[in-house]
Amino acid sequence: MMKNLIKISFFLDLIFSLNANAETADRLDKQLCSICHGVGGNTTSEQFPMLAGQNAVYFTSQMRAFRDKSRANLNASRFMWGISSRLTDEDIDKLAAYFEAQTPAHVGKITDQVKYDQGKTLFTIGDQSRGVPACAACHGEKAQGGATMPRLAGQHEEYLKKQLKVFYGTERPAAVAMHEIVKALTEKDIEALAQYLQAQ
Ligand code: HEC
Ligand code: HEC
Repeated sequence: MMKNLIKISFFLDLIFSLNANAETADRLDKQLCSICHGVGGNTTSEQFPMLAGQNAVYFTSQMRAFRDKSRANLNASRFMWGISSRLTDEDIDKLAAYFEAQTPAHVGKITDQVKYDQGKTLFTIGDQSRGVPACAACHGEKAQGGATMPRLAGQHEEYLKKQLKVFYGTERPAAVAMHEIVKALTEKDIEALAQYLQAQ
């Protein structure tokens, strides 16, 4: 794993040195982002989040949080700190607009109908008796998000579960609302929500 990471960072240095001048988002994606996130931000690998159709305002805030190292969970620091440190505000704005305009591929499938149904109920109406709010109130009825609210529809199950667990700690300090919300979620809720969302 470490060896591979070192190899990747060597290639990144090479790619950046070839692109000393300001780049278009399209070229940055083809030459760099797509290595992990797939072309146009549609990746089939559970290791990497989908970026296609992600809201530009949210996208920009995350790229800046990687760059100033405030989004500090392990994979953020391993994979995104170095890359974001080389990008200007202008690059980030261009990338955000580019990825927002990409059409998300619908790859999710229902693998557990019971979990899916539980996830759907929690997402759309929440569970007042346990203090779980309806996620849809902020993330949108179709989990499409909007402005500062990330799109969750079609996101990889593994990535969603990982991030919900990150919110139990303090490594994403910008996610104030989420820190409170996850306190009411059980492991089973997280499984169910991730199963529902990946299939949207
Ligand atoms: C070497 C692999 C790799 C490359 C190359 C890469 N990323 Fe990432 N990226 C990741 C990983 C892994 C994560 C998830 C980090 C986490 O778990 O917090 C991520 C997360 C992100 C996120 C946050 C997504 C969210 O939903 O919060 C954005 C935005 C992003 N990357 C944009 C980019 C852009 C733009 C590029 C190209 C300039 C790029 N990435 C190149 C691996 C990579
Ligand atoms: C009060 C509004 C609000 C509610 C309700 C809410 N969220 Fe969020 N959520 C946010 C915001 C804002 C962010 C972005 C945080 C940031 O900027 O880091 C976020 C981020 C997330 C992320 C990380 C996405 C990514 O790409 O990394 C996940 C996953 C998530 N929310 C799931 C949920 C689920 C599941 C529920 C319901 C149990 C829920 N949220 C309810 C506002 C909300």
